[in-house]
Amino acid sequence: MIGKIGIGLLGYGNVGVGLVKLLEQSQEVVFSRTGLTFEVIGALVRDPQKPREVALPFLTDDPAEIYLHSKVDIVVEILGGIEPATTYLLEALKHGKHVVTANKAVLAENGSEIYGKAHSLKRRVGIEAAVCGGIPVIKALNQGLVANRINGIDGIMNGTTNYILSQMHRSDVSYQEALTQAQNAGFAEPDPALDVNGSDTAQKLSILARFAFGVDLPWKLIPRHGIEQISSADIHFARKIGYVIRLIGSGHRNGSGIDFRVTPALIPERHPLAHVQDEYNAITIRGDAVDNQMLYGKGAGAFPTASALLADMVDVATGGGIGIGQLNGIEPAQLTTLPTRYYLRFPIPDKPGAIGKLAMHLGEQKISIRNASAELSGSASNVGQVQIVTHQTYPSQIEKAFDKIIEDGLLLGDPVGFPILNPS
Ligand code: HSE
Repeated sequence: MIGKIGIGLLGYGNVGVGLVKLLEQSQEVVFSRTGLTFEVIGALVRDPQKPREVALPFLTDDPAEIYLHSKVDIVVEILGGIEPATTYLLEALKHGKHVVTANKAVLAENGSEIYGKAHSLKRRVGIEAAVCGGIPVIKALNQGLVANRINGIDGIMNGTTNYILSQMHRSDVSYQEALTQAQNAGFAEPDPALDVNGSDTAQKLSILARFAFGVDLPWKLIPRHGIEQISSADIHFARKIGYVIRLIGSGHRNGSGIDFRVTPALIPERHPLAHVQDEYNAITIRGDAVDNQMLYGKGAGAFPTASALLADMVDVATGGGIGIGQLNGIEPAQLTTLPTRYYLRFPIPDKPGAIGKLAMHLGEQKISIRNASAELSGSASNVGQVQIVTHQTYPSQIEKAFDKIIEDGLLLGDPVGFPILNPS
C-alpha cells in the first residue's frame, strides 16, 4: 500500500475519537516518516444519530458497510468484548481487509484463529494496542529483540491495580479506599473485577507468551491471584523489609517449561519495576543477547492507545504486522514452576501454641522460615498477624501448608501468600 490509506472503524468511543484527533495532530510527522496519509472513511456505532465530538464522513450500525466499503483498506476494531468483535474481524479479513485491533479479550480467546485466517488469506493483523496500550512491546519482541531467545518477562500490565497499590503505599489507605480513589480519578472501572482479580493481566500475558516464547497459552491456564486480599499490614511489612507490592504477570523459562504466573509480588525497592507508579505499566524482558531491558509507559487511555493503533496502521500498510513466525512452530505452553522466596501472613488469635502450630505446619511442608514477625496483642479486633518470609519454596508447598493450617482451625481469616521477585 502506498499514499492514502482508507480506514474503517469498528467502534467510535473515546479511543476512536482519540485516534481521529491523533491522525490530525500527527499527519505531518507520520507523512514525513512513512510517506503515508490515513483517511477515516466511516465508523460502525450503535446509534448513528447520536451527535459525536468529532464528525466522520459516515456512521452506520451495519458492520458490512465498513468491511465491504471499497475505500476501506484497513479495518480498525475498537469495540471491546469477544463478540461480535471476533466475527467482525474474521469477516473483514474474508472481505480482503487488513485488520488492526486493540481488543485483548478477542486475542486472548481467539488469537490463533484470527492470525491463522489472516495468514491463509494473505492479510495482515496489528495487535500492539491490545497489550499495554502505548508501549510498543509487541514490536520490541517481534522486531527489536528478534535476535534474542527470551528467557524471562516480568510486567506491570494493569494500570488500575498499579494505581491502587501505589496509593496504598503512598497514602497508607486501605484497599477499599484506594479502589474508590482510583474509580474517582477515572483509573478504575465501576466494575473493576477483571482488573483486580488478575484476569486482565492474564489475558495480556497469554498474548505476550506467543511473541516472547513462541507458545500458545490459553489465559485461563495461567495461575492467577488478584490484589483483593492485600491489606495495610502487607504494605507496612513489605516497606519495613525494603520491598513494594505490585501485581506482576511473569513468564520464566525453566528447562523445557515456562513458569507463568499472575500474582501480587514483593519487589525490592531498588528494582526498576518498584518505581512504576500509579496508572503506568512497565515490562522487563530478559533476552540472551541484550540481558535485561525495561519498557515503561501508559498502558491505557485514548491517546496512548491511539498511538499504538496508528503505529500498527503504518506497520500493516507497509507489509508488517503479525507474520508467519507467529504461526509456525508455535507449541502448546508447557507449564512448570520455579521456587521463589515467599511472603506469608496469617491472621491468628493471641493464645498459647498458635505460632508453634503454624511453624509446625510450615515445617511439615518443608517450608523454611528466613524472617518472621508477630504482632499479636493490643489489636481491637483481637486478630493478630504473623508475617513470614520463607527461603526458596514452590507454590504447591504453600498451598498444602495453607490447607493444613485452615483445617487445623488456627486462623481468624484467610492466609495470604505472595512470591518475592527473584533477582534477574
Ligand atoms: N483495564 C486496563 C488497565 C486497561 O487498568 O490497565 C486496558 O487493558
